[in-house]
Amino acid sequence: MNGTTDPNGPMYYKGIYHLFYQYNPKGAVWGNIVWAHSISIDMMNWIPLEPAIYPSKSFDINGTWSGSATILPGSKPVILYTGIDGAGRQVQNVAFPKDLSDPYLREWTKPDYNPIIFPCGVNASAFRDPTTAWLGPDGIWRVTVGSKREKRGMAYLFRSKDFVRWTKAKHPLHSSKDTGMWECPDFFPVSPEGRLGLDTSARGKGLKHVLKVSLDLTRFEYYTVGKYDYAKDTYVPDNTSPDNSTGLRFDYGNFYASKTFFDPVKHRRILWGWSNESDRAQNETIKGWAGIQTIPRVLWLDSNQRQVVEWPIEELESLRTKQAYIHDKLVKSANYFEVEGIQTSQANVEVTFDVSSLERAENFDPAWTDPQKLCGLKDAEVKGGVGPFGLLVLASAKMEEKTAVFFRVFKAQNKHVVLMCQDPKRSSLVPRVYEPTFAGFVDVDIAKTKRISLRSLIDNSVVESFGAGGKTCITSRVYPTLAIGPNAHLFVFNNGLEDIKVSELKAWEIRTPLMNGD
Ligand code: FRU
Repeated sequence: MNGTTDPNGPMYYKGIYHLFYQYNPKGAVWGNIVWAHSISIDMMNWIPLEPAIYPSKSFDINGTWSGSATILPGSKPVILYTGIDGAGRQVQNVAFPKDLSDPYLREWTKPDYNPIIFPCGVNASAFRDPTTAWLGPDGIWRVTVGSKREKRGMAYLFRSKDFVRWTKAKHPLHSSKDTGMWECPDFFPVSPEGRLGLDTSARGKGLKHVLKVSLDLTRFEYYTVGKYDYAKDTYVPDNTSPDNSTGLRFDYGNFYASKTFFDPVKHRRILWGWSNESDRAQNETIKGWAGIQTIPRVLWLDSNQRQVVEWPIEELESLRTKQAYIHDKLVKSANYFEVEGIQTSQANVEVTFDVSSLERAENFDPAWTDPQKLCGLKDAEVKGGVGPFGLLVLASAKMEEKTAVFFRVFKAQNKHVVLMCQDPKRSSLVPRVYEPTFAGFVDVDIAKTKRISLRSLIDNSVVESFGAGGKTCITSRVYPTLAIGPNAHLFVFNNGLEDIKVSELKAWEIRTPLMNGD
């Protein structure tokens, strides 16, 4: 494996899931970008095929960048992607499968009438990453393309009757000042209730839409939940969604250029994201690969309709082997214990913490609007009232190395504030270039539930954590030197004044699936 970045064009076709991704076949750094292609029947075990799309024509000779798949009527997949043309301009191209009877969709044809969308009156070096197209009630296709005008980030809207000739709509679908280039936009409907996903072209009363963009400026993504007017082609975020780079995130950690698709088999919307290395580039070259695709997650609208919720796809459970189980275990103030009996360098941990009393919760300062800063200030070793409590994953036996995943509960004016942190500061004895503590607030009423759950997926250099059933998600890359293989330990800790209880903890070893053509 060499360098992978953005997931591209995920789709389901004739019994097979397809994932394409930005890939450098010649090295573990960004460059020589092609659309690598892998297929799977369960999204866990993957078989790599030959690259599907690579520079070959005047309209993509300098690069085949990110894009999306759309399933046209009659189950015909089509890919829209950004090509870098001979003059270095970003143009949008279309590609079709050469042979629709091949479920592997090995070969793709790029018609000579490309590019289908040319940067007319648009900054040609900031015009890329077409979304999955959707069909309006008027039978006309729509697609958005990420861009910016000066410092204003935007998603341009284009329409087409035949998927060949596209015209730019007068107004972008949405834009937001001072957010810079919008990379990899994603725009899709979500059901107001339940967990079932919707086809990107679905319409109906009461549906909400989600617009996500990846901000080149901060290298974080943010999304809003809002209302899309099919007739006027306008998208207006709900006033519960902050519409700027302080907004909601699919993942508060190392997670970028994400893309969803609708899985027609299990009627779910699935989210893919790219998690970059946090290591020195020279180590990536030694290792021979860089960048990973995170575990696919089902995504749906929370019952409060203010945010989305994410949960690893159930297929992951097929990789579980040996299990450890603990229940009703008190973790006294300033105490910890080890979860024994399984190897935890590749593991899935699910734990529920009971907090019986919130009496001693620390006071919340309303000036604390940045969760990441707050977690940096109050790390796992800073004693609290209710919490910090949580897990120490990829820990060495003597805890010289550890990654802390934890909650801290604060008392605000007339509610409680729950903070979730993932702190890799002590994850490795070898200092790394980039190891920020990632964090997000968790929108739960802990005074009512008196409990909170945490799920962490641990895989050698990755920790993906899901707080409160997937309301707040955080992914980090860590590089332990001692806590590897059988020497990786898992602990539960409580560094608050208040005792807490592990009402239940289940942890499984996870076996290695098929990857990279094993
Ligand atoms: C996001 C991105 C996209 C672009 C691609 C190029 O990571 O910069 O905007 O299409 O990567 O590889």
